Amino acid sequence: MANLGSLFVLLLLPPASALADRAEDEPVYQPEMGDSPSGSLWPLPKNLHISPEFYRLSGHTFQIVHSPSSTAAVGCSLLDNAFRRYFYYIFGSNAARRGPRKPTARPSHTGELRQLQVTIIASDPECNRHPSITSNEAYEISVTQPVASLKSENVWGALRGLETFSQLVYEDEYETILINKTEVMDAPRFAHRGILLDTSRHYLPLKVILETLDAMSFNKFNVFHWHIVDDPSFPYQSITFPELSAQGAFHPVTHIYTLADVKMVIEYARERGIRVIPEFDSPGHTQSWKGIKNLLTPCYSGAKPSGTFGPINPSLNTTYDFLNRLFKEVSFVFPDNYIHLGGDEVNFECWKSNPAVTQFMQKQGFGSDYRKLESFYIQNVLDIVTANMKGYMVWQEVFDNGAKIKPDTIVEVWIERNMKAELSKVTLAGFTTILAAPWYLDYIAYGQDWQKYHQVEPLRFNGTAAQKKLVIGGEACLWGEYVDATNLASRLWPRASAVGERLWSSEETTDINDAYKRLTKHRCRMVRRGISAQPLYIGYCDQEYKG
Ligand SMILES: *[C@@H]1O[C@H](CO)[C@@H](O)[C@H](O)[C@H]1NC(C)=O
Ligand SMILES: *[C@@H]1O[C@H](CO)[C@@H](O)[C@H](O)[C@H]1NC(C)=O
Ligand SMILES: *[C@@H]1O[C@H](CO)[C@@H](O)[C@H](O)[C@H]1NC(C)=O
Repeated sequence: MANLGSLFVLLLLPPASALADRAEDEPVYQPEMGDSPSGSLWPLPKNLHISPEFYRLSGHTFQIVHSPSSTAAVGCSLLDNAFRRYFYYIFGSNAARRGPRKPTARPSHTGELRQLQVTIIASDPECNRHPSITSNEAYEISVTQPVASLKSENVWGALRGLETFSQLVYEDEYETILINKTEVMDAPRFAHRGILLDTSRHYLPLKVILETLDAMSFNKFNVFHWHIVDDPSFPYQSITFPELSAQGAFHPVTHIYTLADVKMVIEYARERGIRVIPEFDSPGHTQSWKGIKNLLTPCYSGAKPSGTFGPINPSLNTTYDFLNRLFKEVSFVFPDNYIHLGGDEVNFECWKSNPAVTQFMQKQGFGSDYRKLESFYIQNVLDIVTANMKGYMVWQEVFDNGAKIKPDTIVEVWIERNMKAELSKVTLAGFTTILAAPWYLDYIAYGQDWQKYHQVEPLRFNGTAAQKKLVIGGEACLWGEYVDATNLASRLWPRASAVGERLWSSEETTDINDAYKRLTKHRCRMVRRGISAQPLYIGYCDQEYKG
């Protein structure tokens, strides 16, 4: 047994040469010790002044309240719920572990903070609306004794400000809850700050999605890009076409998202200022759409159908009738102004093999240029979505292949090779773009890859100021080949936090030692709030993960 055991260990170890390489190339990481002058704030606010004066807070007396002049003072359940949530994050999770109190030994604080007063200024606080690409997330916080204030145009800024306020609160070594006198004026650098989750390669239970939305709000993300269907499975239960999930889901009952599920996700996200953009990727990545007869192209082997199927068949009118009805439903179910239409990685081989498609190519005068056929298909889909009053996002191939896209299309750049040239090209053509290429978090490696994500500068490409303005944000993508409910949170956090800061904070936020100090604490805060965020490096949290 002993021999077998050691053999097993030997097999699991990387070859000696790999170990030697690492020792030579990667010096042992030595993080700088001590606290950041910005405490544990993540992402770093635009303008921040923390003074050495500090106040005590008590869960028995402290309140988060509407200011009398706030336009959201009455009947804004979105904010009322947020007040409750943040009160719990500040006091509940601390109090939960507290044993008998040590005697207060250090009464050096200058009084007690009694209230956080929240003021919404705009005549429409937007309590019952959905967030959008133009939502104003700016806010101001002033912490002075005895009443702190948080001001914003409408609820979206208030949500971001509540998160920041909760991050200003800390405990000293006597477990006294404290907050320093602080001024914050904050607004995001980029308007679109997204996380992509893939629920086709593995089914993600609702609980995991909701937990991710919580963690997103801790990191000021505001878009959940829901890559809901793809080749492996179709978990979206369509009302119009129930056969899609009945035949395309991993399991037709247990591994689907019902209309009620989807609505719950959308509302949970809304309450946290997060948009939900669904992606129905086509004409490729559609193997699971097999529930619809004659939708996928039959591939041929010589003169005979081979029994396999390729991308959606662009040569049939019935295809577009189907898509019209499907996207009518999707536009109705998902309130966001945008739908992601995919359009990436279309394999032309099956189209080439199919005689009906070949005939259609001739009739349309496409010659043998299958990119023209793809563009024909995409154009039809874009028209369908436009007719349903929605805007659309697409992967970069749709632009690269020359489809005629509407001026307000958002092009998502995902191919890392030539990424800068692509950003130049897309913005030169006048299209709004978001960047995903440097942030494919499904690729994992030894060490602190969050630093690499943090160091990306999205606007470092050749272009005019007008071109750079067209880059409205980015997305961290966690594709699902190797991810399910067991490892999603620890793989995503705090690696995605680095992307969150890059997209929220100013371009000058590049001090990696300062980021390390803040992120270490932010990660422990996520753990305290129930997110199984993985460690950055050697160390501990006051409250370790309890599962
Ligand atoms: C808060 O105040 C304390 C006490 O003066 C000080 O030591 C600490 O550095 C302050 N925190 C921050 C983040 O500035
Ligand atoms: C498909 O629709 C087009 C345009 O409406 C029409 O010209 C064509 O005849 C239709 N094809 C079939 C096979 O019905
Ligand atoms: C920008 O353009 C200059 C001059 O054409 C070129 O030398 C440089 O490599 C380009 N930089 C990037 C990031 O593409």
